[in-house]
Amino acid sequence: MMPSPRFLLEEPQVFLQWLADRRAAGWASFDDVDVAQIYAIAASAALGRHDGRDRLLLPPASTSGAARFAHAVGIDEVLEGECQREPTEQARTVTLTRVRRLGETEAVAKQIVDLTLPRQTHRDAADLYWFVLVELLRNVVQHSRDPAGGIVAAQVNDAGPYAGAPALQVVVVDNGIGVHEALRHTQPNLTNPAEALVRAMEPHVSGTFAEGQSGTVANAGLGLFFIAEMAKQTRGRLLLATRGATYFLDRTGSSESQPRLTNGDAPDYPGTLVVFETALSRVGSYDTIIRGIHELAGLRTPKRITHHWLRFEAPATATVQILVDVAAEDTVAAHQFVEQQLIPRLIRRESVTLDFRNLRVCTQSFLHALLHEAVRLAWARKVPLFVVHAVPTVRAQLEFVEAYSLGG
Ligand SMILES: Nc1ncnc2c1ncn2[C@@H]1O[C@H](COP(=O)(O)OP(=O)(O)OP(=O)(O)O)[C@@H](O)[C@H]1O
Ligand SMILES: [Mg+2]
Repeated sequence: MMPSPRFLLEEPQVFLQWLADRRAAGWASFDDVDVAQIYAIAASAALGRHDGRDRLLLPPASTSGAARFAHAVGIDEVLEGECQREPTEQARTVTLTRVRRLGETEAVAKQIVDLTLPRQTHRDAADLYWFVLVELLRNVVQHSRDPAGGIVAAQVNDAGPYAGAPALQVVVVDNGIGVHEALRHTQPNLTNPAEALVRAMEPHVSGTFAEGQSGTVANAGLGLFFIAEMAKQTRGRLLLATRGATYFLDRTGSSESQPRLTNGDAPDYPGTLVVFETALSRVGSYDTIIRGIHELAGLRTPKRITHHWLRFEAPATATVQILVDVAAEDTVAAHQFVEQQLIPRLIRRESVTLDFRNLRVCTQSFLHALLHEAVRLAWARKVPLFVVHAVPTVRAQLEFVEAYSLGG
């Protein structure tokens, strides 16, 4: 008899091969599996949902360790609908959660971070993981075209290389069109899925606008670039498995390790599977990581003259002052906010003060959605936009939006 497989993130191909074999058979059971980390459970569940397409049957299993773990994190419920259950092990696992709409992404990300990373002890890691989760969940909703949405889950790991230094594994997975298909229209020169995957991780590459342009209202093409850099800087692991190709970076052993890529020559994932894992003790400072990534992105962004239409000071004369956190991290709300509150005033050449109080951490894509159009209009109408109460990292992120948005 074959020994039961173990699905650990250090060898993603073991899991992907099993999944390919089981998909060919039409059904899978965790009773054949010895150990499965949360990413393998979530990735299997995404293919077994009752409302999914090309459904992989996953009959209830209970006899192996992997089967019991899958049950504990709510696989039975998520295959049939939503999982409403509290996790069985507080602070160690987060049950499989479905995400379908943009409005849900931020709240779900926050809940996962709050459950696994207590703020008192893990503030920087909490900020980092929140950023990663928001960007990945938004990608599912914006790009995957999976009508059943995505699945997200998390698990604290302290075995193997993490003995004594726990790591958090987060997974976001969909059964959608995959990265190559999503990028095909704006990057017509791509010749294969692996090239698409690598390109998607470069700054300012997106399926929503053509190369050389500086972004749409909704996207800057920065989400995956930030996440890949975060994995590198924290010496973590990043798996991106999508239709036709896989990318796996493992920096836990050495900070020099190069990613392993496959392109049609190894099992892939019928959708997009992203797993991010890093030892919490290696996160260091969130602010330093964001700043480092901006520097790197700046090197790859053509130098442009900017006139600083964002002014980080209170205006000399009274202006309308607007609290930004009403639209926080909801790119749809941000868009409405811009249309209703900012554009009409800028067109009338009225200056506005944006108050960033209560926003200590922001994703780059939210700030882009908020200010890309407004900053261009401020420049065209020659009216400054004042920014008050922005913490230093948010300020650096805003400066980046201005430099980028005025260059296109
Ligand atoms: N889950 C997914 N399914 C399909 N395609 C995806 C998925 N995630 C990312 N992509 C593709 O990769 C591209 C790059 O993603 P990335 O997050 O870096 O940028 P973006 O989402 O376009 O912009 P931003 O993140 O700044 O809002 C996307 O535009 C899309 O074409
Ligand atoms: Mg994105």
